[in-house]
Amino acid sequence: MNLPVKYRPKLFDEVLGQEHVTRTLKNALKKKEISTAYLFTGPRGVGKTTVARLFSKGLNCEKGITPEPCNVCQSCREIDSSRSLDVIEVDGASNRGIDQIRSLQEKVRFAPQRGRYRVIIIDEVHMLTQEAFNALLKTLEEPPPNVVFIMATTEPRKVPETIVSRTQRFDFRPVSEELIAQRIRKVAELEGISVEEEAVQKIARHAEGSLRDGIALLEQLAVYAENSIKSSGVDHLLGVVEESYYLRLFEAILERNTLRAIEILDEIMAKGYSPQQFVRGFGEASEKLMRAHYGLEGSSFSELGKRLTDGDIIPFLRVALDLQSNVRYTSNPRLLLDYQIMRLTLLPSAVDIAEILRKSGYNVFERGPAMKLTAEEERRPQVEKFAFSETGEKPGEGKTGGAIPGELQSEERGIPYEKIREEQVPFAEPSIEEKTQSGDEITGLTHVIEKENPLLAGILAYARIEIKGDDLTLSVQDPFQMDMIKHHEDFIREKAKEVIGRPLTIRVEKGEGHRDEPDPLLLRL
Ligand SMILES: Nc1ncnc2c1ncn2[C@@H]1O[C@H](COP(=O)(O)OP(=O)(O)OP(=O)(O)O)[C@@H](O)[C@H]1O
Ligand SMILES: [Mg+2]
Ligand SMILES: [Zn+2]
Repeated sequence: MNLPVKYRPKLFDEVLGQEHVTRTLKNALKKKEISTAYLFTGPRGVGKTTVARLFSKGLNCEKGITPEPCNVCQSCREIDSSRSLDVIEVDGASNRGIDQIRSLQEKVRFAPQRGRYRVIIIDEVHMLTQEAFNALLKTLEEPPPNVVFIMATTEPRKVPETIVSRTQRFDFRPVSEELIAQRIRKVAELEGISVEEEAVQKIARHAEGSLRDGIALLEQLAVYAENSIKSSGVDHLLGVVEESYYLRLFEAILERNTLRAIEILDEIMAKGYSPQQFVRGFGEASEKLMRAHYGLEGSSFSELGKRLTDGDIIPFLRVALDLQSNVRYTSNPRLLLDYQIMRLTLLPSAVDIAEILRKSGYNVFERGPAMKLTAEEERRPQVEKFAFSETGEKPGEGKTGGAIPGELQSEERGIPYEKIREEQVPFAEPSIEEKTQSGDEITGLTHVIEKENPLLAGILAYARIEIKGDDLTLSVQDPFQMDMIKHHEDFIREKAKEVIGRPLTIRVEKGEGHRDEPDPLLLRL
């Protein structure tokens, strides 16, 4: 049986998540204000064809034009079973040419057979040839009476503007996970399928906004699991890499244990998962880690998330994004995975760097003059030895200092702190000019931002920030960071006004970024 078809909504009010569309169409039917052409855009499986058929039924129901078709009259039943002579559905993908459009034009020349309107539904309309579009355009310019065109497409940009401008356009949206889950529960109940709540959530997430995919997945799983769907079975069937792998992988990364991280990757691949499946799970796990860190929701990442700083999390998100955009295009996806995971294990922890800098009297997030030392720090000897732990112990928790990963490991042999400061710390001492007013302003600004939005402050640490006159310029190298900063432009403007006391024009541009890169490995590699 085909559950998505069986559960096609029969009333506008049963269509989930597209109220902005159904409300308008219902009103048009109620007022009998019918346009000649409609364009339905949106991703796959979100209700475009369903709504097109509902609208056709509303136009031709024997009850009269109605927002609530009866679903029992002959016209309604014929439309439901695709037998109506007045409602013609064509698939633009397989009827692309001018001849097909001509034969449609032939058909619409005559009055409708039974109903009031002839409705032509053209699915995947963007697939038509240029010639076919031209012919269609002619008909739209001088439409025969009582003809309604409903065109549906997943790729509206490929439909010529001349056509689009002659239609009333409705953009269908991806359906939310919540609504998909709700529908899955309902269909399962009606079909006598037992499905664990966690499994419902997983199916809904996997459907990625398509209700059809959600219901189809439910159906497949029900067949496989003999009508009793367990959460544990779902992962395997959907090719979802279990979360516990990522927990272990993240632990290995945070301990800078490259070998173990690569071994965990091997293990996942040996289970038969594809790099794409790994990447998908990695993205979800990183997102969960971030959410757990901010206490947004509980998950198996809660404990780990609380141990980390904002700066530790950013690289995970960044690598997740890199992987997502590249994994499909590389000829050697496994190499890409190894490379990105190594980047993470070799990256110095943000905490560690911040700590080194703090000890040198310099705050990571500040550009201006050295921070005042706390009384405690003042008491410490100015030259001290760093102790290094291999366990990734956080500075402050250890007795004498913090772990410094990567190249700095050589310091285990005990090079004095003073020397680290000269040679290893990637930040230069603030120069005299920097102790100018603008330096102070920037310091103040980044400070305030750090308090209210540490994530943004973490990104601003990569930026070169300049205030000249009434212009505040932020330049960064990385497009992702640029997007993030742009996204927060209003917030930065507001804070700048607050701190500096005058309105500034914010410019975000691609540049060389912060001259003293706080995250050298990540950007250099
Ligand atoms: N918004 C929705 N509310 C309820 N059910 C829906 C919705 N969208 C899709 N469905 C379910 O999915 C099935 C397929 O939907 P439909 O054919 O309308 O999708 P579509 O948007 O036309 O997709 P495509 O672009 O692939 O043609 C429906 O029969 C129904 O079971
Ligand atoms: Mg469709
Ligand atoms: Zn009817």
